[in-house]
Amino acid sequence: MSVRHFLTLRDLTSAELKQIIDRAIEMKALHRQGGTGEPFKNKVLGMIFEKSSTRTRVSFEAGMTHLGGSALFLSPRDTQLGRGEPIEDSARVLSRMVDIIMIRTFEHEKIERFAEHSRVPVINALTDDYHPCQLLADIQTYVEQRGNPKGKTVAWIGDGNNMCHSYINAAALCDFKLNIACPEGFDPNAQLVAENADRVSITRDPREAVKGADWVVTDVWASMGQEEEQKEREKQFAGYQVNHEMMALANDDAIFMHCLPAHRDEEVSAALLEDEKISVVWDEAENRLHAQKALMEFLLQTA
Ligand code: CP
Ligand code: NVA
Repeated sequence: MSVRHFLTLRDLTSAELKQIIDRAIEMKALHRQGGTGEPFKNKVLGMIFEKSSTRTRVSFEAGMTHLGGSALFLSPRDTQLGRGEPIEDSARVLSRMVDIIMIRTFEHEKIERFAEHSRVPVINALTDDYHPCQLLADIQTYVEQRGNPKGKTVAWIGDGNNMCHSYINAAALCDFKLNIACPEGFDPNAQLVAENADRVSITRDPREAVKGADWVVTDVWASMGQEEEQKEREKQFAGYQVNHEMMALANDDAIFMHCLPAHRDEEVSAALLEDEKISVVWDEAENRLHAQKALMEFLLQTA
């Protein structure tokens, strides 16, 4: 069987996504009861980080340990990747030594090239274009809190960034409607929007987007690599803060998510982020652990 990679959510069918989410929920319960045994004994995960991380690094590393395996943190600062060794050579070498690889990097095409030359499954742990692991956790969280998202309305408020693109893919796989509100000049990828035009719409008015929403999401206005645009973006995104007033326009039982780290009182008010009746961000963060364990089990079983 050919190697399965997870570079975007589109690498999964709807049925496979459901299988991973169900297993993540099961693994969470098993973890609470004392663990899942050691199915990954002697398995090694290589973790390449070209950008910072708290949740992704810890959830993958802890997840591997829970399953009896181990993880290697590889930074370009102290590997030959940082000295210009081609990505193709790195992929061929590393994938002869470890069993599964996750990469957090800038250009999405870099992870595609790496995967092309890898003998083992490659997981996208965030690129400039997509963050599919976060969506596994977000979908798991919605299912736990409110059930199947099929037929629901999700509002994405803010930058048309990597998270927004992954929400577009999730809308197609989970069959929900996605209302995107972003300022002009910060739209998500036009082709991706066009391919999903039956369920994805863009507005400049965040209030219009949240009306009738069951699930409201935002993210930082300046992503990693865009730090120098922070001040300018604060001006462009004025009026896009998700707060209690905005949530009042959504459906009564709507929940709020944010992949974190959050900038309080910028894209989300501190009061909303801390309001655990609406904000499920801590469960969402925890679910990175369970969802990625289920993902790795899926990829290693089907590899
Ligand atoms: N949400 C997320 O990916 O967090 P980290 O950048 O801390 O990994
Ligand atoms: N859009 C953010 C997500 C961080 C988890 C970034 O790329 O920095």
